[in-house]
Amino acid sequence: MFAPEGVDLEHPNVARVYDYYLGGRANYAVDRVFGERALERYPFVAPAAKANRLFLHRVVRYLCKQGIRQFIDIGSGVPTMGSTHQVADEIVDDASCVYVDNEPVAVAHSRILLEEEDVTGKHDVLHADLREPDRLWKQIEDSGVIDPEQPVALLLIAVLHVTQPGPNGEDIGPQAVARFRELLPEGSYLVITHGTADDVPDKRKAEMAEFGKMYDKSATPVIWRPHGEIEEFFGDYELVEPGCTWTPLWHPEETGENAPVIEFDSPNDSVVWAGVGRKP
Ligand SMILES: C[S@@+](CC[C@H](N)C(=O)[O-])C[C@H]1O[C@@H](n2cnc3c(N)ncnc32)[C@H](O)[C@@H]1O
Repeated sequence: MFAPEGVDLEHPNVARVYDYYLGGRANYAVDRVFGERALERYPFVAPAAKANRLFLHRVVRYLCKQGIRQFIDIGSGVPTMGSTHQVADEIVDDASCVYVDNEPVAVAHSRILLEEEDVTGKHDVLHADLREPDRLWKQIEDSGVIDPEQPVALLLIAVLHVTQPGPNGEDIGPQAVARFRELLPEGSYLVITHGTADDVPDKRKAEMAEFGKMYDKSATPVIWRPHGEIEEFFGDYELVEPGCTWTPLWHPEETGENAPVIEFDSPNDSVVWAGVGRKP
């Protein structure tokens, strides 16, 4: 596979390893070695990643029905298994989406997809970073596909458990999200999914800790937050029913006709906590 400029081929990267878990091909040997080892030891990760992706589809459908037409998908990853703009475009004809990622391969693949589908101009892709909310908001405005005065859905799907080091190395994910909550216009939605080891089946607790440790030496370490800390990301936004819950339990009625069925022994085996908040 070609390597866009700036890509780190020395270390496994969360975007490309995640693509491997989902059965994609936008990954390099270093990612596949890591991904194979992870799935061999922790096979529950692949269905959890797929269930996370299916949550994304359901939430986009749900929000289109609430009148949302603008989507900002930060940490969008490599497009696979149905992307935000594709799901929205199936439901309404006036949706727009801006994808944002800081990993060059993810950005390049998103760009190629939009070009192949001939939807650039309606949707866009930015190579940018969530840790700089004001700069990113300006870049989103400059893209011209989002009207910053109108409500948007800000999607932070499986990105906040990737550590977000600030200038002093501390995780500034919560700080960045707090600033986005201020920047979003009234009536906007904040959508978050986040890996957790809270309330997972007993056998998964230690496995989640070991699985998380595997990322320590990667370019992108991870952190599994407890439910309370994940809910704090929503600040004073009003949680949409049913509140934060396991990915498979959030509005299952929005499941697409051709969606694959992912079986879990129990919903908490999906190890990903999800919620949607609305700015009052
Ligand atoms: C686990 S993947 C999730 C991909 C997709 N959202 C999904 O759930 O299918 C996390 C993504 O977040 C991106 N990411 C991590 N930190 C980021 C940052 N500071 N700014 C932009 N993207 C980031 C990674 O490059 C990766 O593509």
